[in-house]
Amino acid sequence: MGAKKKLVRWLQWFTVFALLFFVGFIIGWFARPTDTRHQTHEQKSDFLQEFLGEIHATNIRQYLWKLTRLPHLAGTEQNLRLAEQIQEDWLKFGLDSARLVWYDVLLSYPNTTRPNFICVVDQHGDEVIRSSLAEPVPEGYENVSEIVPPYNAFSAPGQPEGELVYVNYGRTEDFFKLQREIGVNCTGKILIARYGKIFRGNKVKNAILAGAKGLILYSDPADYCAEGVKPYPEGWNLPGGGAQRGNVLNLNGAGDPLTPGYPAKEYTYRLSLDKGVGLPKIPVHPIGYGDAFHLLKNMGGASLPPDWKGALNVSYRIGPGFIGDFAQNVYETFELVEHFYDPAFRRMEAVTRVRGGLAFRLADAAVLPLDCNEYALALSQHVVFAPSSHNKYAGESFPGIYDALFDIENAEQPEAAWSEVKRQISVAAFTVNAAADTLRPVA
Ligand SMILES: *[C@@H]1O[C@H](CO)[C@@H](O)[C@H](O)[C@H]1NC(C)=O
Ligand SMILES: *[C@@H]1O[C@H](CO)[C@@H](O)[C@H](O)[C@H]1NC(C)=O
Ligand SMILES: *[C@@H]1O[C@H](CO)[C@@H](O)[C@H](O)[C@H]1NC(C)=O
Ligand SMILES: *[C@@H]1O[C@H](CO)[C@@H](O)[C@H](O)[C@H]1NC(C)=O
Repeated sequence: MGAKKKLVRWLQWFTVFALLFFVGFIIGWFARPTDTRHQTHEQKSDFLQEFLGEIHATNIRQYLWKLTRLPHLAGTEQNLRLAEQIQEDWLKFGLDSARLVWYDVLLSYPNTTRPNFICVVDQHGDEVIRSSLAEPVPEGYENVSEIVPPYNAFSAPGQPEGELVYVNYGRTEDFFKLQREIGVNCTGKILIARYGKIFRGNKVKNAILAGAKGLILYSDPADYCAEGVKPYPEGWNLPGGGAQRGNVLNLNGAGDPLTPGYPAKEYTYRLSLDKGVGLPKIPVHPIGYGDAFHLLKNMGGASLPPDWKGALNVSYRIGPGFIGDFAQNVYETFELVEHFYDPAFRRMEAVTRVRGGLAFRLADAAVLPLDCNEYALALSQHVVFAPSSHNKYAGESFPGIYDALFDIENAEQPEAAWSEVKRQISVAAFTVNAAADTLRPVA
């Protein structure tokens, strides 16, 4: 009996123990941290597929049409309308917020009532050649106003006169060849360079370094036309009347020329126009190869290295040749894309998917490539607190303002000195604003 009782008690204990173990197991099972990495990875890849699946060629076509139907040069009314439209669309897509943020940047427009042109005058001062004032309007765009005449944004104003010199692409090596091997001095000349190979702003910089008075840029068929293809609108080649627009700034990352390195807000200090960063000091003007043909066909002087020849039916000579007078391409239309570049918009769809996928991954990255510790360090070292530049052993709050005010009563140019104080205050204002932004809660 005693042994039986013992066995029963033992069995009871065993049952209780087993039950407790089972309950514990169940609790443990459900309470265990799920393998989040694995699950979110799968989820993420599902979301990514869903996201990529929403990119459709037909949508891209529709948006391209909507965004390019009318000219929308930066800073114009139409540009603002488009920005508002995009904001509206983004909110409709479900973004929590989409704000229009205002900046007051330096922009550059041509004088539409007196467009720029190039002309060649003979020895009596009579005009013998004059470049077109506008591009022929492509079919279907006859009623579109506000197409600006060809111009290079931020070109200096002016009417330089001088002999014409052909400088190939206007690269550094081209100028070396001209000066060292061919022996042409570009000082005081008007240069003509073909577009291509390097950024047009660098061509302008090189022309200024060479001492040029002005620069003409043109698109040579060798660089802008494929063989056997007709000019637009019959094909996708650039027509002779098409001139490439585009800015000729050398900003080196400065942003707005008058507020280099800082956002162009109302509180930002602005440089005067003549001190602006990257603004060329010479007039620059773009023309099409139709006009370039007439300038190049009569040029004299040295003949060219073989690889400097373009594809116009002229002999291509370096000059110096003439006497000149100075006073985005219209053809990149929606129809150009629709009829020639990417008729089914499949390429655009593919590119959008790649870019969208990249953005998607980055948006979900656990670690963003931004280290706020480094930012804080740089901030405190350079703007809010720093060793004084006048006393190595002392530190200063807002050192920029301190330095600018240092001995200001004895400044040789009080106006310039006080300008520097204003600039430093604007730097501090920007920094405080930017720091405040990092403290704002996300979304
Ligand atoms: C454009 O040129 C005309 C004629 O020379 C001149 O009267 C006008 O002031 C110029 N406009 C601008 C914005 O410079
Ligand atoms: C341009 O306007 C004229 C006159 O209003 C009209 O007859 C013509 O069809 C319009 N052209 C285009 C391409 O809209
Ligand atoms: C080019 O010409 C200018 C003036 O015409 C002269 O000052 C300069 O020294 C010349 N440069 C060279 C490399 O000969
Ligand atoms: C090039 O110009 C020459 C002389 O003007 C002309 O005889 C020739 O037919 C032209 N060639 C082509 C391909 O247009």
